[in-house]
Amino acid sequence: MKRDPLALEESLAELERGLLKRRRATLATLNAAAEWPSVSVDGRRAVDFCSNDYLALARHPDIAGAMADAAQRHGAGSGASHLVAGHGVEHQRLEEELAAFTGRARALLFSTGYMANLAVIGALAGRDEVVLLDRLSHASLIDAAVLSRARLKRFAHADAAAAERVLAASNGTAALVATDGVFSMDGDVAPLVELARVSRAHQCWLVVDDAHGLGVLGASGRGLLEECGLDAEAVPVLIGTLGKAFGTFGAFAAGATDVIELLLQKARTYRYTTALPQPIAAATRQALAIAAREPWRRERVLKLARRFSEGARQLSVPVMASATPIQPVLLGSLARVLRAQEELLAAGFWVTAIRPPTVPSGGSRLRVALSAGHSEDQVDALLEALGRIIARLPP
Ligand SMILES: Cc1ncc(COP(=O)(O)O)c(C=O)c1O
Repeated sequence: MKRDPLALEESLAELERGLLKRRRATLATLNAAAEWPSVSVDGRRAVDFCSNDYLALARHPDIAGAMADAAQRHGAGSGASHLVAGHGVEHQRLEEELAAFTGRARALLFSTGYMANLAVIGALAGRDEVVLLDRLSHASLIDAAVLSRARLKRFAHADAAAAERVLAASNGTAALVATDGVFSMDGDVAPLVELARVSRAHQCWLVVDDAHGLGVLGASGRGLLEECGLDAEAVPVLIGTLGKAFGTFGAFAAGATDVIELLLQKARTYRYTTALPQPIAAATRQALAIAAREPWRRERVLKLARRFSEGARQLSVPVMASATPIQPVLLGSLARVLRAQEELLAAGFWVTAIRPPTVPSGGSRLRVALSAGHSEDQVDALLEALGRIIARLPP
């Protein structure tokens, strides 16, 4: 785009005309621990049904307390990158705890899941090698593949046979297969057992980004890998984020010692950025401990997800097939999804409209995200409002 105010104006006007312009809502609470999931959304009171705070830990007072304590001891900021002077005791302990939690030799912290994905794909895929991604992979995996300068190939969503066909056609040039564990906008899960088999058969890395599965799925909350009975041999590289079920911020990659050492030595999103503040690492350690000793959080959010999906079917609310806390309601057109979002807010529910390019064209949806912090009454009230509002939407 040229440096021309008219070109900028036209670009923004085009988004507006296409119903694709995003507007941020400002959320506020006075005492989050006591109030959430009730929040003020641009001054209107509503129940938050679109945060990824699946275990209701983001506003937990003990986690906020751990953050405040660590800020007193270590400071609010880390001051430098990990390889210079930014790596502190809280980072070190958290990495050790994450390695133990995921059953892997080592874990490495990143400031965001986006950066962890850039690091892993960039380190493991060489220029001109093939990187295979599920068609609905998170944007950060796609960007990672593009930045790695490997050749990006995509396979049909959640279809391991399709992945195998692409691998076979790649004549040994494929370096890795990567996928979300739980798909962030769909709530369904990757066929990990089959993907592990085909990746191994073709001598490729399998990288799983289980941002939305960790903490929630599996007998002890170790995510989709635990649910599928897959060990570190089957899935050599696991990526997790800390800003979703664990309620804080940041991310990690976990794997064998050499893989993690390679990331530490080479990943540009590790080397050339300031380390996550230690108070966040301390808060995350507290969150991991609470999640481990309070399995009711996991059980409760999954129970609420079942309640929502069964209730939606009964009310003819077009919920997508998902057994996770992500329960998208597929409305198709931009006009329908925006109208539904507005009417839900007026009825006291905050559920953001998800539109292209985040989802495919014609796939606009309300991404309902459940949390252990919701009550059954709140879920039932949301269902009732959805049923009523959707029945009146234009086709
Ligand atoms: C599957 C997946 N991977 C990675 C990310 C990025 O994580 P972060 O928000 O920590 O950058 C997200 C969402 O934000 C996600 O849904």
